Amino acid sequence: MTRRKTPADLRSARWFAPDDLRSFGHRSRWMQMGYAPEDWVGKPMIAILNTWSDAQPCHAHFKDRVEDVKRGIFQAGGFPIELPALSLSESNVKPTTMLYRNLLAMEAEELIRSHSVDGAVLMGGCDKTTPALLMGATSAGLPMIYVPAGPMLRGNWKGHTLGSGSDAWKYWDERRAGNISDRDWTDVEGGIARSYGVCMTMGTASTMTAIAEAIGITLPGASAIPAPDANHKRMCAAAGRRIVDMVWEDLKPTDILTRAAFENGITVAMAMGCSTNAIIHVIAMARRAGVDISLADFDKASRKVPVLANVRPSGDTYLMEDFYYAGGLPALMTRLTDHLHLGAVTVTGRPLAESLAGAEVHNDDVIRTVENPIYAEGALAVLKGNLSPDGCVIKPSACEPRFLKHSGPALVFDDYPAMKAAIDRDDLDVTADTVLVLRNAGPHGGPGMPEWGMLPIPKKLVKQGIRDMVRISDARMSGTSYGACILHVSPEAHIGGPLALLQTGDIIDLDVDGRTLNMRVSEEELASRRAAWQPPKAHYERGYGWIFTKHIKQAHEGCDFDFLEESFGGPVAEPAI
Ligand code: FES
Ligand code: MG
Repeated sequence: MTRRKTPADLRSARWFAPDDLRSFGHRSRWMQMGYAPEDWVGKPMIAILNTWSDAQPCHAHFKDRVEDVKRGIFQAGGFPIELPALSLSESNVKPTTMLYRNLLAMEAEELIRSHSVDGAVLMGGCDKTTPALLMGATSAGLPMIYVPAGPMLRGNWKGHTLGSGSDAWKYWDERRAGNISDRDWTDVEGGIARSYGVCMTMGTASTMTAIAEAIGITLPGASAIPAPDANHKRMCAAAGRRIVDMVWEDLKPTDILTRAAFENGITVAMAMGCSTNAIIHVIAMARRAGVDISLADFDKASRKVPVLANVRPSGDTYLMEDFYYAGGLPALMTRLTDHLHLGAVTVTGRPLAESLAGAEVHNDDVIRTVENPIYAEGALAVLKGNLSPDGCVIKPSACEPRFLKHSGPALVFDDYPAMKAAIDRDDLDVTADTVLVLRNAGPHGGPGMPEWGMLPIPKKLVKQGIRDMVRISDARMSGTSYGACILHVSPEAHIGGPLALLQTGDIIDLDVDGRTLNMRVSEEELASRRAAWQPPKAHYERGYGWIFTKHIKQAHEGCDFDFLEESFGGPVAEPAI
């Protein structure tokens, strides 16, 4: 470990210590707020990036939890300052929060860089907030610690457990099939989200917070604590105490976010039965740290790491609350020690191995043994072929096994409204073997790559009892979704990827074991279709959307903006005066 910092070394001292006019201005304005030199002299100033807002149900408790974080910072001799950041509610923001992940990342980076702070506590949890805050704070480069919002309590309806997202899709289909009443549907609506906290299935939120813990950027055991649990308040205070010491130790993101750390994140993601969104976010996060993670790293892990967390939708019964009571992430990691880099340093300043000491599994049905997994291989598989030369993704653990090898005719929709208008028609030309295709739903096409990839099963088939079929898109899907959905087709149709050339009736061949996805269309035929292809109109001519479409990268590259990647030019200079 590097030497401890002294008060004179503090970054904040550059704002407060000099005997000059500029620092007079800083000091007098903190005094305007009632603070005195006793509050800041010789004390690390800690930014708390809080993604609370009135429109963010998953972070509703952050308005109050931030006080626990501050309590910890004060206890350790720091000076907390709360900096509100874009809250990115997955359930409230249109057209998709993915359009704004990079905006929050930019905000996080610049909030940290521009203020007189020595370190940062990042408060997030709802899907995009985790990668966004971590991407931005990694680029800012000051010591940081992540405070995950924690999962909400289990849902409940008539004594049945309800899982976020997954049961919404499930009961929506039951309603479309006429199996539940309108009253039942309304009661499900009132029971499915009954406390603050993030989705309690293994959706993107719990996937990304588990990854944050696995890469070592949360306190050990932090990610699975249910949001309303008193342990969550104590974790917040502990994170506040720890960041102050991290500043003195000068423990920076790059000391923690190494290739080994990201490989640990991928291993844990696989064992959790992770959301497919993990791929995009981890690639983007790693590249901010200068680590070149690609789809190949996920596929390599998926061939050797079994799914051990019996949490829906990969599992069939349990939710994050059960996972926490079964021991949480440290317990799961004790079963993965053959696959983990145990020497990787975490925010504790100590190797991961020390975080796992004493952890144990309390319920072998919730956290399975390696001999009795939910799924013997990893949660995700990366496919390539003439339909997706740069790769696409499927979650085999969450689809009906008969679809792992499948051939069938494509039924192609050019955009979401066209699909929506047709999908419930009784005369739709579709069978259980048809492959439903949605295109122009990628990073450019969506725009923002919305979670449309779990295309609805046509009503005609739902009535026949069919609940899964092969679906292909350049969209993403919610981590709480399930089914034989092939996602993230890259390059996307909107920029002329081969998906744009597919026609209804073309035969699609899917082979998950062989990791291939192809359309049976000859090279010559594809060339003639390409010659006739017209690029669609761009979505934006001004504003943030224009920046987005100018600079967004494809799914297999993590959908970061090109100018934000670590490899794009030299580091941004610190404020000079
Ligand atoms: Fe916020 Fe699912 S909607 S985590
Ligand atoms: Mg989600």
